[in-house]
Amino acid sequence: SQGLNLADLTLLQQLQHDLGTLADRQWHASPVINGRHYSGERQTVMNPADNRLTVGTVVYADQEAVELALNCAAQAFTDWRLSPGNTRAGKLRQAADLLEQHRLELVSLCVREGGRTIRDALAEVREAVDYCRYYAQSAVELFSAPTKLPGPTGEENLLYHYGRGVFVCISPWNFPIAIFIGQVTAALAAGNTVIAKPASQTALTAMRCVELLHQAGIPEAVLQFLPASGSLTGQYLLPDPRVAGVVFTGSTETAQFINQKLAQHHQAIVPLIAETGGQNVMIADSSAFLEQLVQDAMTSAFNSAGQRCSALRVLFVQREIADKTIALLIGSMQELSLGNPGLYQTDIGPVIGQAELIPLKAHLETMRLDTKLVYQNPLDESLRHGSFFPPSLIEIRSLSQLTQEVFGPVLHLIRYSVSELDQVIHAVNATGYGLTLGIHSRIDANIKAIQQGVKVGNIYVNRNMIGAVVGVQPFGGMGLSGTGPKAGGPDYLRRFTVEQTVTTNT
Ligand code: NAD
Ligand code: ALA
Repeated sequence: SQGLNLADLTLLQQLQHDLGTLADRQWHASPVINGRHYSGERQTVMNPADNRLTVGTVVYADQEAVELALNCAAQAFTDWRLSPGNTRAGKLRQAADLLEQHRLELVSLCVREGGRTIRDALAEVREAVDYCRYYAQSAVELFSAPTKLPGPTGEENLLYHYGRGVFVCISPWNFPIAIFIGQVTAALAAGNTVIAKPASQTALTAMRCVELLHQAGIPEAVLQFLPASGSLTGQYLLPDPRVAGVVFTGSTETAQFINQKLAQHHQAIVPLIAETGGQNVMIADSSAFLEQLVQDAMTSAFNSAGQRCSALRVLFVQREIADKTIALLIGSMQELSLGNPGLYQTDIGPVIGQAELIPLKAHLETMRLDTKLVYQNPLDESLRHGSFFPPSLIEIRSLSQLTQEVFGPVLHLIRYSVSELDQVIHAVNATGYGLTLGIHSRIDANIKAIQQGVKVGNIYVNRNMIGAVVGVQPFGGMGLSGTGPKAGGPDYLRRFTVEQTVTTNT
C-alpha cells in the first residue's frame, strides 16, 4: 500500500468492499462465433491465489471452431472495410463507456482469474478505456476521408487507408484486459475483422470484454472470440490463407514461431506486429537521489509480481552508492505486503500458475551456485495454496549471467565503476533485447550518453519504468523485444491497414 494518495486509497477500499458481492460468482467462456456460443468440454479455471477456489469454466476451440471463426470473419470483412471511420470510432467510444460502467466485474475477474492486485486491475481497466478512446480518435483522423495529396493542375491525388482483412489478435495473460482490448480495438478501428485469441489462462476476463464490445455495437460477425491453445493456433489458424495480419504480445520465442508460420503463406506477405519480452535495466550513478531510486526500483521490479514485460530485471548501481542502495532495498522489501490480491493493501499477489513457479525456482537454484542471494521475503504458510513466489534480490557480476527473461519478482543488482559506463551500455545492447530502461542520475552528460547509446524503445529518467500511458508514452521495443510500431502511439493503426493511392485526371 505504498505511495497511495487519499483518493486512490478510498476508491480501492470501496472496490475491495464491492468485490465481496462477486466473490463466489462463477463465470463461463467459450468460442463465440457470429454471436453463438460454441459448445464442448468444459475445463475448470482455478484462482492462482488459492487453488481450492474455482472461478469458472472454459470451452477451448477445436479445429472446427477455428474454421467457423475464419469463415465468418472473412465474410464480414466486405462491409466492415467500407464502414466509415466515424462509425467505428463511435462504437469504440461506446465500448469505453461500457468498460467504465462494468469496472467492478472486470476488476473482480482480473483479480480472481489473473491474480492481479486490485490496484493493477483498476489500472488495466483505465488503460483499456484509454485505448478505446485513443484509437477511436485515430480512426476519425485516418479514415473519415482520404488524404488529399499535392498534384499538378488537372490531377487529383488521394491516399486511402483500408483494413487488411481478418486480423488475428493473440494476447498474453499478464494484461488480460488492457492488452487484449488494445490489440482488438486497434485492429477494429483500422477496418479489419478480428479473431481474438486470448491467453488460455485468462479467457474468462477476455470473454467479458468481448461481450461488452458486442454490446457497444461492434457487429458479432466482425469480432469472433476464440479461446484456444497456442498449439492449435499455430497448427490451424496461423497457416490459413484468410489470415491477413497478426498482432501478438507475448514471449520472444512465440513471436519468432509465429513469424515463421506467416512466412510460409504463399498468397500474401502477412504482417506481424509483435510486442515481446525484455531484459530491462536501470542504471543509477552516484548523483542519484537514493530514496527515489529505491522507490522506483521497487515499483519497477516487484509491481505485478514482476510479471510485466516492462519490469526492471537488473539494477546497475555505481559502486560508491551500492551498499547504501542495497540496505534501502532490503528495508523496502521488508515492507512489502504479499498475499491475497483482493485486499487493497496487497503489494504482491501470486504468479499466474504453478507452472510459472518452476522456472523461477530453477533460476534461484542456478543463481545460488555463482551469485549472492542478498534478500528474499519470507513466504507465509497461509499462502501455500497459491502460486506465490517470494520477492528476491540477487547480486550478480555481469549481465551475461542472465541468459533469459526471468518473469517474476526477482531483482538482480550489479555494481559498476564510473569508468565502466560504456561497458554497461554495451552489455545492455548485447542482450539483443530493447524494451524499457531506467536512468537515475543528475548528470546530463551521463543521461545523454545512455539514452543515445542504448537500443531501447522506452526510456524513463529519474522515475519508475512501468505503466506507459496510452497516447503519452507510446510503448514497444526493438530487437528481440518487438517489431513496432508502438502501441498507444500515432503510427500504430497504420500498420493494420493497406494504403491505396488514387490518381485522377480531372
Ligand atoms: P506466451 O508467448 O507464452 O503466450 C502469449 C500468447 O501466445 C498466448 O495467447 C498463447 O496462447 C499464445 N501462443 C503460445 N504459443 C503459441 C503458438 N505456438 N502459436 C500461436 N500462439 C501461441 O507469453 P505469456 O507467457 O502469455 O506472456 C508473458 C510474455 O509476454 C513475457 O515474455 C512478456 O515479456 C511478454 N509481454 C510483452 C509485452 C509487451 O508489450 N512487449 C506485454 C506483456 C507481456
Ligand atoms: N505497457 C505496460 C507497461 O508499460 C506493459 O508496463
